[in-house]
Amino acid sequence: MTRTCLAVILAAGDATRMKSDRSKVLHPVGNLSIITHVTRAAAAANVDHAVIVVGRDAEAVAAAAAQADVPVTTVLQSERKGTGHAVLMAREVIARGFDDVIVLYGDAPLINPDSLKAAQAARAAGADVVVLGFRAKDPTGYGRLIVENGALVAIREHRDASEAERGIDFCNGGVITLDGHTAIALLEAIGNANAKGEYYLTDVVEIARSQGCRVVAIEAPEEDLLGCNTRLELALIEAVWQRRRRNEMMLSGVSMIDPATVYLSHDTVIAQDVLIEPNVVFGTGVTVGPGAVIHAFCHLEGADIGEGAEVGPFARLRPGADLGRGSKVGNFCEVKKTIVGPGAKINHLSYVGDARIGAKANIGAGTITCNYDGVNKHLTTIGDGAFIGSNTSLVAPVKIGADAYVASGSVVTMDVPDNGVAFGRARQINRAGMAQMLREKALKLNEERKLKGEQRTLTPVTKCE
Ligand code: UD1
Ligand code: CA
Repeated sequence: MTRTCLAVILAAGDATRMKSDRSKVLHPVGNLSIITHVTRAAAAANVDHAVIVVGRDAEAVAAAAAQADVPVTTVLQSERKGTGHAVLMAREVIARGFDDVIVLYGDAPLINPDSLKAAQAARAAGADVVVLGFRAKDPTGYGRLIVENGALVAIREHRDASEAERGIDFCNGGVITLDGHTAIALLEAIGNANAKGEYYLTDVVEIARSQGCRVVAIEAPEEDLLGCNTRLELALIEAVWQRRRRNEMMLSGVSMIDPATVYLSHDTVIAQDVLIEPNVVFGTGVTVGPGAVIHAFCHLEGADIGEGAEVGPFARLRPGADLGRGSKVGNFCEVKKTIVGPGAKINHLSYVGDARIGAKANIGAGTITCNYDGVNKHLTTIGDGAFIGSNTSLVAPVKIGADAYVASGSVVTMDVPDNGVAFGRARQINRAGMAQMLREKALKLNEERKLKGEQRTLTPVTKCE
């Protein structure tokens, strides 16, 4: 028979050390809320249900937590009385009767689902309480795991620990798994006679032992259990997350010249044989097809980059940029909500927004789609094989036909038919010898001033009013 499992995620902690207006579990790691990472880890460990114990920002925390493949309930802990008290806020859900109840902290997003599975396996193998521990480089502040003859006998919080106990480096990582059928009774037995006057969840270890239960500690890497209490810890967690994600990507066939300068999002998808040069930022919603090259210094968000396409250096792709196979968006170009056809090129200094660009079209340097009239956005359509001369303004809505040609420097306000040529600029006039005439005139004027003893003064620059 398959066992049932409930995750109780504590997220009612105070965020004073974050110095933030919002709950710390709403801060992002890899552009995804910390709490969402945690509920997704629980979902990946096949828990049947998750309860989030929230304090502030209950609605936002609930919404973020729900972005996981597991049913989520939120309960409120209106007064912060400790981790033991917090778990009891989920009493009604626990009472539905799960085989296992895994308590975990909502501010530790790097938790590995495998550790949660290991805890469930230890329960299935006969342990009544399973504590996830780690070897701390600096154990200050953590609860110490006191192990005697292979059995976990107590968790001593730092403040309550003796000098000898403080020497222990095996610490409580904050993931404690209980027998769902006895959990409420154990939790109710917790008192608050300790240095902080709080109900410590960690006291369940001694209580369970006194009732003859089997209590075990299993070990996980310290990095997996990092919690977020300050912005410094948030940055450290982000760094670990980024490193892990980059490593996964490189092992799956993505080349990065300087991985430490590439920033990924939780949903970034990059195919095999893609080359990513240094200093590239992937916002959310980016997919990159096989063999594409992302040159240095690009900022990408909500973009779909086709097979063999080339982007940058210094390109910005915004949401809805859809680059076809073998297309190219070059330096200092911004592309938004635009389909760039296969083999089409936007190579230099352009803004292309709300557009459809046909296959193999060439968009010259400095082309701008004037897509916004101050009220509405309008579409620019460019046919297959069209050629847009440099420094063209395409005033949308406007349509350039297939294989059409737009002369450089045009302001295009009317549709151009297939194969047509549009000249949207003033005709050039040349006056033979006029340059010399103008120069002589100026020199003569200077001569006359000198004779009259006039100082040649420049008009002073006055402030604009
Ligand atoms: C806790 C553990 C400690 C462990 C450490 C690991 C206890 C008593 N101590 O200490 O053994 O080594 O985590 O990081 O559990 N929370 C609530 N409501 C409360 C209190 C806390 O929801 O009333 C939540 C917090 O949001 C946080 C988690 O529980 O996510 C842990 O609370 P925190 O105060 O950070 O515990 P620590 O003192 O770090
Ligand atoms: Ca903590």
